[in-house]
Amino acid sequence: MKWRLHGIVEPFTGLMLNMLYMSKLSKWRRKTKVTGYNDWYQGTWDYNRREKLYDELISREKVGSLPIDYFEFGVAGGYSFRWWLAHNNHPDSRFFGFDTFEGLPEDFGPFAIGTMAAALDSLNITDPRARFYKGLFQDTLNPFLDQYANGRRKLIHMDADIFICAQDWDKGWEKNFTVSTPQIKNGSATASVTLPSGEIDKITINLTLIKTAAGWRINKVACAN
Ligand SMILES: C[S@@+](CC[C@H](N)C(=O)[O-])C[C@H]1O[C@@H](n2cnc3c(N)ncnc32)[C@H](O)[C@@H]1O
Repeated sequence: MKWRLHGIVEPFTGLMLNMLYMSKLSKWRRKTKVTGYNDWYQGTWDYNRREKLYDELISREKVGSLPIDYFEFGVAGGYSFRWWLAHNNHPDSRFFGFDTFEGLPEDFGPFAIGTMAAALDSLNITDPRARFYKGLFQDTLNPFLDQYANGRRKLIHMDADIFICAQDWDKGWEKNFTVSTPQIKNGSATASVTLPSGEIDKITINLTLIKTAAGWRINKVACAN
């Protein structure tokens, strides 16, 4: 190709994608009324600010003294998990933590696969109210839900970083999604799955499948747009 457009554009793709998703977030934020604590937008990264949000939930929703089911998707080293254990003292509360405990399952912007890895044993959380589920949410959540006794107040903390893991897909997605013809080569296969979505028109995800004794399994997931 005469024009090496990618040579000009590629150094800026991270910035451009960031602007794209920040503008979507900004639009969503404009449309979505927040009556309580709100720290959108902050130009600086201060992890300690999250405790202000947690404090606000305690004072507004009284979740510090009620029996709750606390779910955290993305536990990492357990900082927030420990915070909630320390700030909800009800003996009937239960705390469920989901993570690979091997870090991010794929590259995410400047963060390489495996970033934020914290071995489950290293958390050293001994509170008997806590339970951990190691693996991808995609693998651990459904078996968990099969035996979960629903009923009490829930506090759900989604902190997995990767957008596709947190995307609110259209509720009727299974009727509407399309799959491209899989390309199979040497025991692995690739296909694109396109899902409809609420906020954005559609999402296309590239799946790499791998053949195991138990059948085809998803090996890698990446957003195509
Ligand atoms: C930002 S860290 C969580 C920080 C933690 N919530 C805190 O407040 O200290 C993100 C975590 O999400 C986990 N994660 C991301 N995608 C995941 C997935 N699909 N399945 C399981 N864990 C995932 C990573 O392993 C990582 O530990």
